[in-house]
Amino acid sequence: MSYWVWDSSLSIGIDVIDGQHRRIVDYINDLHEAHSDHDHDKVTQILMGLVDYTVTHFAFEEDLMTQAGYPLSASHKKVHESFIAHIQNYKKEHEKGQDIARKLMSELQIWLTNHIKNEDRHYVPYANEVLGKKKSWLKKALGSFFGGGK
Ligand SMILES: [Fe+2]
Ligand SMILES: [Fe+2]
Repeated sequence: MSYWVWDSSLSIGIDVIDGQHRRIVDYINDLHEAHSDHDHDKVTQILMGLVDYTVTHFAFEEDLMTQAGYPLSASHKKVHESFIAHIQNYKKEHEKGQDIARKLMSELQIWLTNHIKNEDRHYVPYANEVLGKKKSWLKKALGSFFGGGK
Protein backbone atom coordinates (compact mmCIF):
# COMPACT_ATOMS: atom_id res chain seq x y z
CA MET A 1 0.00 0.00 0.00
CA SER A 2 1.17 3.50 -0.77
CA TYR A 3 2.34 5.67 2.05
CA TRP A 4 1.09 8.81 0.36
CA VAL A 5 -1.55 8.89 -2.35
CA TRP A 6 -1.45 11.88 -4.69
CA ASP A 7 -4.75 13.71 -4.99
CA SER A 8 -5.92 16.68 -7.03
CA SER A 9 -5.73 19.06 -4.04
CA LEU A 10 -1.96 18.97 -4.62
CA SER A 11 -2.21 20.04 -8.25
CA ILE A 12 -1.12 23.59 -9.07
CA GLY A 13 -2.51 23.28 -12.61
CA ILE A 14 0.84 23.30 -14.42
CA ASP A 15 1.40 19.80 -15.82
CA VAL A 16 5.17 19.90 -15.89
CA ILE A 17 5.37 20.97 -12.22
CA ASP A 18 2.61 18.60 -11.10
CA GLY A 19 4.53 15.76 -12.77
CA GLN A 20 7.66 16.65 -10.81
CA HIS A 21 5.77 16.89 -7.51
CA ARG A 22 4.19 13.49 -8.23
CA ARG A 23 7.64 12.06 -8.86
CA ILE A 24 8.71 13.23 -5.39
CA VAL A 25 5.61 11.56 -3.91
CA ASP A 26 6.60 8.35 -5.78
CA TYR A 27 10.08 8.54 -4.25
CA ILE A 28 8.55 8.80 -0.78
CA ASN A 29 6.35 5.77 -1.47
CA ASP A 30 9.38 3.83 -2.74
CA LEU A 31 11.27 4.84 0.38
CA HIS A 32 8.42 3.58 2.52
CA GLU A 33 8.43 0.23 0.73
CA ALA A 34 12.20 -0.25 1.01
CA HIS A 35 12.09 0.74 4.68
CA SER A 36 9.24 -1.70 5.40
CA ASP A 37 11.28 -4.44 3.69
CA HIS A 38 14.31 -3.51 5.89
CA ASP A 39 16.32 -3.18 2.69
CA HIS A 40 19.10 -0.85 3.85
CA ASP A 41 20.85 -0.64 0.48
CA LYS A 42 17.64 0.21 -1.28
CA VAL A 43 16.80 2.86 1.35
CA THR A 44 20.22 4.42 0.70
CA GLN A 45 19.72 4.33 -3.05
CA ILE A 46 16.23 5.89 -2.86
CA LEU A 47 17.35 8.56 -0.40
CA MET A 48 20.13 9.63 -2.80
CA GLY A 49 17.64 9.73 -5.67
CA LEU A 50 15.08 11.63 -3.64
CA VAL A 51 17.52 14.33 -2.53
CA ASP A 52 18.93 14.62 -6.03
CA TYR A 53 15.55 14.85 -7.71
CA THR A 54 14.27 17.38 -5.18
CA VAL A 55 17.33 19.60 -5.73
CA THR A 56 16.76 19.42 -9.50
CA HIS A 57 13.06 20.18 -9.16
CA PHE A 58 13.84 23.23 -7.02
CA ALA A 59 16.40 24.47 -9.55
CA PHE A 60 13.87 24.04 -12.36
CA GLU A 61 11.23 25.94 -10.41
CA GLU A 62 13.68 28.72 -9.55
CA ASP A 63 14.61 29.15 -13.21
CA LEU A 64 10.92 29.30 -14.13
CA MET A 65 10.30 31.95 -11.45
CA THR A 66 13.27 33.99 -12.65
CA GLN A 67 12.08 33.80 -16.26
CA ALA A 68 8.65 34.91 -15.09
CA GLY A 69 9.99 37.89 -13.14
CA TYR A 70 8.16 36.51 -10.11
CA PRO A 71 8.58 39.12 -7.36
CA LEU A 72 8.99 36.55 -4.54
CA SER A 73 11.64 34.44 -6.30
CA ALA A 74 14.39 35.25 -3.81
CA SER A 75 12.40 34.30 -0.73
CA HIS A 76 11.02 31.17 -2.41
CA LYS A 77 14.59 30.17 -3.23
CA LYS A 78 15.62 30.68 0.41
CA VAL A 79 12.79 28.36 1.52
CA HIS A 80 14.07 25.71 -0.94
CA GLU A 81 17.65 26.14 0.30
CA SER A 82 16.82 25.69 3.95
CA PHE A 83 14.74 22.62 3.17
CA ILE A 84 17.57 21.07 1.14
CA ALA A 85 19.96 21.64 4.06
CA HIS A 86 17.42 19.92 6.28
CA ILE A 87 17.11 16.81 4.11
CA GLN A 88 20.89 16.69 3.54
CA ASN A 89 21.19 16.36 7.32
CA TYR A 90 18.87 13.38 7.25
CA LYS A 91 21.00 11.84 4.53
CA LYS A 92 24.08 12.27 6.75
CA GLU A 93 22.32 10.71 9.73
CA HIS A 94 21.31 7.77 7.56
CA GLU A 95 24.93 7.37 6.45
CA LYS A 96 25.92 7.22 10.14
CA GLY A 97 23.55 4.28 10.53
CA GLN A 98 20.56 6.02 12.08
CA ASP A 99 17.06 5.00 11.06
CA ILE A 100 15.59 8.30 9.90
CA ALA A 101 13.25 7.10 7.13
CA ARG A 102 9.99 7.33 9.04
CA LYS A 103 10.71 10.81 10.36
CA LEU A 104 11.91 12.02 6.99
CA MET A 105 8.83 10.69 5.18
CA SER A 106 6.44 12.33 7.58
CA GLU A 107 8.27 15.68 7.54
CA LEU A 108 8.54 15.62 3.77
CA GLN A 109 4.85 14.95 3.39
CA ILE A 110 3.87 17.81 5.68
CA TRP A 111 6.45 20.20 4.26
CA LEU A 112 5.67 19.45 0.62
CA THR A 113 1.92 19.66 1.09
CA ASN A 114 2.25 23.09 2.69
CA HIS A 115 4.85 24.29 0.23
CA ILE A 116 2.88 23.19 -2.85
CA LYS A 117 -0.41 24.60 -1.59
CA ASN A 118 1.05 27.95 -0.56
CA GLU A 119 4.41 29.03 -2.01
CA ASP A 120 4.26 27.02 -5.26
CA ARG A 121 0.65 27.86 -5.99
CA HIS A 122 1.46 31.54 -5.57
CA TYR A 123 3.79 31.71 -8.60
CA VAL A 124 1.29 30.01 -10.97
CA PRO A 125 -0.13 33.11 -12.71
CA TYR A 126 3.42 34.38 -13.39
CA ALA A 127 4.65 30.97 -14.55
CA ASN A 128 1.68 30.49 -16.88
CA GLU A 129 2.64 33.65 -18.68
CA VAL A 130 6.16 32.38 -19.35
CA LEU A 131 4.91 28.95 -20.39
CA GLY A 132 2.48 30.58 -22.80
CA LYS A 133 4.89 33.14 -24.26
CA LYS A 134 8.32 31.52 -24.12
CA LYS A 135 7.55 28.03 -25.32
CA SER A 136 11.19 27.33 -26.13
CA TRP A 137 12.12 27.87 -22.47
CA LEU A 138 10.34 24.69 -21.33
CA LYS A 139 12.07 22.36 -23.76
CA LYS A 140 15.45 23.91 -23.05
CA ALA A 141 14.96 23.82 -19.27
CA LEU A 142 13.75 20.20 -19.25
CA GLY A 143 16.81 19.26 -21.27
CA SER A 144 19.28 21.11 -19.09
CA PHE A 145 17.84 20.15 -15.69
CA PHE A 146 16.50 16.66 -16.34
CA GLY A 147 18.42 15.61 -19.44
CA GLY A 148 15.26 15.57 -21.51
CA GLY A 149 13.21 13.51 -19.05
CA LYS A 150 11.07 14.85 -16.25
FE1 LIG B 1 7.70 22.62 -6.10
FE1 LIG C 1 8.88 25.54 -4.54
